[in-house]
Amino acid sequence: MIYITRKEHFSASHRLNNPKIGKKENEAIFGKCNEFHGHNYYLEVTLCGEPEQNSGYVFDLKKLSRIISKEILQKVDHKYLNEVEMFKGINPTTENMAGIFWKILNPKLKTKNARLYSVKIYETEKNIIEYRD
Ligand code: NI
Repeated sequence: MIYITRKEHFSASHRLNNPKIGKKENEAIFGKCNEFHGHNYYLEVTLCGEPEQNSGYVFDLKKLSRIISKEILQKVDHKYLNEVEMFKGINPTTENMAGIFWKILNPKLKTKNARLYSVKIYETEKNIIEYRD
C-alpha cells in the first residue's frame, strides 16, 4: 500500500460557539476561542492505494490539488467559517471541519486503485486534528 499526500494552505476566521447553549456556557467552554479570531490552516489530504499501471501514479497530485482547491479552498480561504454554507448550524471546530472536508472529498477521490485515507488539519503548529474513516 502506498500513501500520497497533498498539502494545502488557507486562512480563515471563526469563533467557536454552540448556538444550542447560552453565552455564559459558551464562554466557559471555549474561553478566548469564543471571540472572533483567525488561523493560518494547513490541510493535508492523504490517499492510499496501488500505482495505476499506465501512469505509475496512485493518484495524479495535480488533479488532487485541483479537487481540493475547487471543493474546499475556494469555499473557505479568507472566509468567516461560521457563515460558510458547509458549516451551516455547525460549530467550526477543527474536528468538525475535518469531518466535513472528508464527507465532501471522499466521493471525489475514489478510483479503481485509490481511496481517501485521511484529512489532517493543522490549526496551529501545535494543534493538529486528523479524520480517518
Ligand atoms: Ni480558533
